[in-house]
Amino acid sequence: MEKTLPAPLAQRPAPRRRVRLLQLALIVQAAVLLYPLSLYLQWSPTRSQNVPINARTIVAQCKSLQLTPGPPDDFYSRGQSDRFEAGTKPTLIRNATIWTGGDDGAQVVHGDILLDKGIIQKVGSVDVQTLSAETVVVDAAGAWVSPGIVDLHSHLGVDSAPALSGASDTNSIKGLVLPWLRSLDGLNTHDDAYKLSISGGVTTANVLPGSADAIGGQAFTIKLRPTSQRSSTAMLLEPPYTLNGTVVDPFQRPRWRQMKHACGENPSRVYSGTRMDTAWAFRNAYETARLVKEEQDTYCEKALAGQWTGLGKFPESLQWESMVDTLRGRVKVHNHCYEAVDLSNQVRLTNEFKFSIAAFHHAHEAYLVPDLLKQAYGKTPAIAIFATSGRYKREAFRGSEYAARILADNDIEVVMKSDHPVLNSRHLLFEAQQAHHFGLAANLALASVTSTPARIMGMDHRIGRLIEGYDADVVIWDSHPLALGAAPKQVFVDGIAQISEPHVSMKPKSAQDVPSAPNWDKETAETIKYEGLPPLEPGVNVVKDAVLFTNVGSVFLKNSETGAIAEVYSASATGENVVLVQDGSIVCTGTCVEVLAAAPAELVQIDLEGGSIHPALVSFGSPMGLTHITAESSTSDGSALDPLSGSIPKIISDTVIKAADGLLFASRDAYLAYRNGITSAIVAPSARGFLGGLSTVFGTAAPHKLADGAALQDVAALHVTVSLNSRVGVSTQIAALRGLLFGEGKGQVNERFLEVVKGELPLVVEAESADIIASLLVLKQEVEALSKRSLRLVIAGGTEAHLLATELAAAGVGVLTAQRPFPGSWQERRILPGPPLTAESAIAKLVKSNVTVGLRPLGEPSTVRNTRFDLAWAGLESNGVLDKAKTLALGSSNIEALLGVKGSGVNTDLVATRGPSELESKVVAVISQRTKSVDLL
Ligand SMILES: *[C@@H]1O[C@H](CO)[C@@H](O)[C@H](O)[C@H]1NC(C)=O
Ligand SMILES: *[C@@H]1O[C@H](CO)[C@@H](O)[C@H](O)[C@H]1NC(C)=O
Ligand SMILES: *[C@@H]1O[C@H](CO)[C@@H](O)[C@H](O)[C@H]1NC(C)=O
Repeated sequence: MEKTLPAPLAQRPAPRRRVRLLQLALIVQAAVLLYPLSLYLQWSPTRSQNVPINARTIVAQCKSLQLTPGPPDDFYSRGQSDRFEAGTKPTLIRNATIWTGGDDGAQVVHGDILLDKGIIQKVGSVDVQTLSAETVVVDAAGAWVSPGIVDLHSHLGVDSAPALSGASDTNSIKGLVLPWLRSLDGLNTHDDAYKLSISGGVTTANVLPGSADAIGGQAFTIKLRPTSQRSSTAMLLEPPYTLNGTVVDPFQRPRWRQMKHACGENPSRVYSGTRMDTAWAFRNAYETARLVKEEQDTYCEKALAGQWTGLGKFPESLQWESMVDTLRGRVKVHNHCYEAVDLSNQVRLTNEFKFSIAAFHHAHEAYLVPDLLKQAYGKTPAIAIFATSGRYKREAFRGSEYAARILADNDIEVVMKSDHPVLNSRHLLFEAQQAHHFGLAANLALASVTSTPARIMGMDHRIGRLIEGYDADVVIWDSHPLALGAAPKQVFVDGIAQISEPHVSMKPKSAQDVPSAPNWDKETAETIKYEGLPPLEPGVNVVKDAVLFTNVGSVFLKNSETGAIAEVYSASATGENVVLVQDGSIVCTGTCVEVLAAAPAELVQIDLEGGSIHPALVSFGSPMGLTHITAESSTSDGSALDPLSGSIPKIISDTVIKAADGLLFASRDAYLAYRNGITSAIVAPSARGFLGGLSTVFGTAAPHKLADGAALQDVAALHVTVSLNSRVGVSTQIAALRGLLFGEGKGQVNERFLEVVKGELPLVVEAESADIIASLLVLKQEVEALSKRSLRLVIAGGTEAHLLATELAAAGVGVLTAQRPFPGSWQERRILPGPPLTAESAIAKLVKSNVTVGLRPLGEPSTVRNTRFDLAWAGLESNGVLDKAKTLALGSSNIEALLGVKGSGVNTDLVATRGPSELESKVVAVISQRTKSVDLL
């Protein structure tokens, strides 16, 4: 590909010769004779005595200040990647369905891809006869193939897994403005997450410093694969030439640099300041850099005019050079910035100092201010967001699942990012899948994790698309990349296959198609109208009369005695496929001829378009119900005091805390949970240490505790945490638990533990490590040997529980665990990652071993709404271990059974979903036996 060169480069000799000349210039006093005529003529020969010996270098340096970053001219004819590992054999991927990223993400090529020398040599039809004998041939059998996933915002390697106190290198808190710091200097080559993220198709990550500072430092782009050199430096993708301090060829076009900025809550909180302080810190920093730049420009003006007298040394500052480069438009600024107030501040800053921002990250309110974004200096910043994670702090309160679509509708570039390990970047593609589900066009959703982030970080000449000459970063998928649960069959980085023995789970045929997204036009419009806070209160459209659901694909029901879930109806190809609901119960399924004849004439009809009716879901494991905004203590119940690691006021020392006393209703997350089919939840007191307290069951739709359907069961289970991350030793925690189980507690504490020993109250222990779980199983035996009763022990968390699947099953101990494990800390490091790294997922292994498993959300209350995705995903990666009924049980009856939910606490609601796949479609109605009505959403 031909590129036009900037004028000063066009006449230059070959670079190598230029460097030699440069050295010569330093030695030979009469260097002036060697100057190209054009430069020579700029100087007055009469003043030649004043010319410094390194004048030529200075002139070159001054000229180079005007160069904009980009690949060198000969990059496009490269025959080998600079990242090529010697010995890597060529690979031909045959018969692939190739999403190239071309044609604005619309291009799909059916054919082959040839990888060699770390580069994509050909996309299309490759003649096998022309290939060398050592070529590895991979038959994709028609599978979807995409470019490697690109993460614009990651802390891989600096916020490493498992987290250890000796390796937290994300933030420096030595000042609000630290542009001279470099994430590379903290990059740990042993982060467990590299391999895991690659197994999710991620091949490139932009590693940013954290957001504790206004200017946290320089970011670096890495490829995730192991390198033969095993160094952090070898992981870098096109680092700036200046990185190792070698003399830079001044005629070489510079490479893009990356820089982290952050505004709003984080810098304010870390430095006990305000937004005003942070804004001044930015202005002060940019002014300092501007002054250095001005000095340089004045100097260079003189140097280029040959006015050497008294000029002295070129003004430089190692501390400020990266900021000066920012002002010269040579740095991609990544700005962590959420709210309209912060975005406004930053837009003003760009215009005051004339620099541009590559992307606003997080930016939960960006979709509300598209016109403001367009006023930023230079190019309109891209917006890098999460799909549905929100409301965790004030800045995120107005975050919307429709933001990606709204931004795209306003012609603003959208990137989905992980902020790894905030979200596990292994599942960055899930963010794009959700963005698509909530309205972002499929081509843009795929681009949002490939070609768009590559462009925003200035790497789109080599990554983010499948084009001849690009880096050989390729993923072969087991289904369409936007289908829920899509997992790689193989991942290539620089042409090297990354997964030695990939395990591929069987996916339904339908998963090969672009999933159809529900219609969210109404919700999207309301989100804009209400500035991010559309009304979510349920019960606006309640039907007391009978409702006829038409076009029903399937019906699942929960046995009221046993809790078992079974499919009771499946659509026939020819029949009517209707379901009539009266007084909150299904009265007939199928054709319903006779019943319909007797039904009232004006029947409300809801077309489910092949969707399903199934038991409502139940949530346990997030603080939903005890908080509205987790980072805001004034919106939360607060932590239960811990008798082991702190002092307890005497007045409550023998008391067991009840979550029921702290319930906070009408949170946006609870209402969103309801709208996604989770109509009841169990919450335990927020424990900061050993003793939590008593969990309670509540209805997610209720406006307050005294409302009908609000407080469903006062006490469910007793909760305790045993953790390696505690300030108190594990052996001390277990000793305390043993003491309490053997009757050493006082007052209410003793009474509740007596109920536990008698098997009347489940004991739920938050425990991750297999060693802790094993100790708990031994303790259970000790207690039972004495009590002759069976202890209802449940493990919550249980990341390593799969190692004890047989023992847990034998002991009758159930596990409440999340669908996507991550080795966040030492006690969670032995995860069973599931396909493609292992054949089994942790949940599938536990279920296969006859352990009762309940699925819990990943954490924040905003993740509860995704329970239907998590369940469907657990089923998809289980290789048939979990059919749909069993999957539903993971998210409802199993949780109730484990947590001691009974009587009025049991969820008897049904939900109706519109769309062909019951767990990926839209919930359109909640059918309530309790209120004998149907709530249309
Ligand atoms: C590509 O794979 C599909 C699916 O296995 C198969 O039906 C088709 O025949 C293959 N095409 C070629 C050219 O091999
Ligand atoms: C460091 O400098 C050497 C010599 O110029 C160069 O070959 C190498 O690529 C540089 N390394 C980086 C990471 O820039
Ligand atoms: C699980 O339970 C079923 C039914 O009781 C039994 O057939 C099967 O052998 C059990 N599996 C294991 C691994 O114990």
